[in-house]
Amino acid sequence: MRVSLLGQGGGGPSQLGQRTDVDQPGIDRLIAAGIEAGINFFDTAESYGESEVILGQALAGVERDRYFLASKVSYKNRRGDGRIINAKELVERLDRSLERLGTDYLDLYQMHGLEAGDVGPVLSDLIPELERQRRAGRIRAIGVSELWEVDGPHEALLKCLPDGPFDTTMVGYNLLNSCAEDALFDVCREHDIGVIVMFAVRRAMSDAARRNEIFAELVKDGSLDPDSVDAADPLGWVLRDGVGSIPEAAYRFALEPNVVGTVLTGTSKIEHLRHNLAAVAAGPLPPDLRREIRERYGQLTQSLGT
Ligand SMILES: NC(=O)c1ccc[n+]([C@@H]2O[C@H](COP(=O)([O-])OP(=O)(O)OC[C@H]3O[C@@H](n4cnc5c(N)ncnc54)[C@H](OP(=O)(O)O)[C@@H]3O)[C@@H](O)[C@H]2O)c1
Repeated sequence: MRVSLLGQGGGGPSQLGQRTDVDQPGIDRLIAAGIEAGINFFDTAESYGESEVILGQALAGVERDRYFLASKVSYKNRRGDGRIINAKELVERLDRSLERLGTDYLDLYQMHGLEAGDVGPVLSDLIPELERQRRAGRIRAIGVSELWEVDGPHEALLKCLPDGPFDTTMVGYNLLNSCAEDALFDVCREHDIGVIVMFAVRRAMSDAARRNEIFAELVKDGSLDPDSVDAADPLGWVLRDGVGSIPEAAYRFALEPNVVGTVLTGTSKIEHLRHNLAAVAAGPLPPDLRREIRERYGQLTQSLGT
């Protein structure tokens, strides 16, 4: 898959407008603007409310071979009994995703939010069925995303990627927690696994009040030296060398490693999409700025973004 460096995501805090009051015509325009700008990778999941249906409708008029479509299966009944689904249920869920998206194949189907303790049963009980579905042409590639909210150091991916048949992995990676650079990305390079970045901006880099809370927690738990943090504007210092906004800095930071195939933007707003496209077009951050970000925050391994 040759994917655009910016991809559009159907989950996160906005969930394709479901949580930000953007209606279907608004999302139709958002996706059309993405296609028009050259975006060819779209991600969703069965668990993002009506996201699959909304995305399917927004893409309905676009030729199917102009874009790559990714969805994810909730391999575990997280809100119910916590049981891992069986192969038959997996196929039923794939059937439903295809129907909701209005397509007869997915370019990428991902295990959603894999937890380290589930790697064994998922590899032995579910992956063989995904490989069958891939041979049948109903999915073209197999991926796995992590549950970064509880797995900042990437334990699950470090455990499953070397032994699994994964074509891609979706990784939490941003300018506050960039520890994927230290171990995980080399595993991806070694096994030729495409990296999809999530959490590049999230709330930490788009909501000043939330950002201040996150930095206050990092100071309180001893992760950051209070003398190094401006409590009123903890990331204000990155706005230099022509960098105009914190989301811009965050997307430009995330696209830099050569193993990254695409950085997802979870925006539901067309003006934010245009801003993010311009950020990506500006390319990686100036090397000195990136170096300083890594020096200040490179030791952090907790999930930081939400
Ligand atoms: N475990 C998993 O598998 C998993 C977990 C999380 C996410 N994902 C996938 O990754 C995708 C990306 O999710 P993410 O939340 O990490 O995306 P993100 O792009 O890092 O963050 C999205 C948030 O940033 C805001 N935002 C984006 N651009 C902005 C701008 N220029 N100015 C101000 N605010 C801006 C959005 O609000 P507005 O809507 O107001 O712009 C939204 O609240 C999801 O859509 C989903 O497909 C997967």
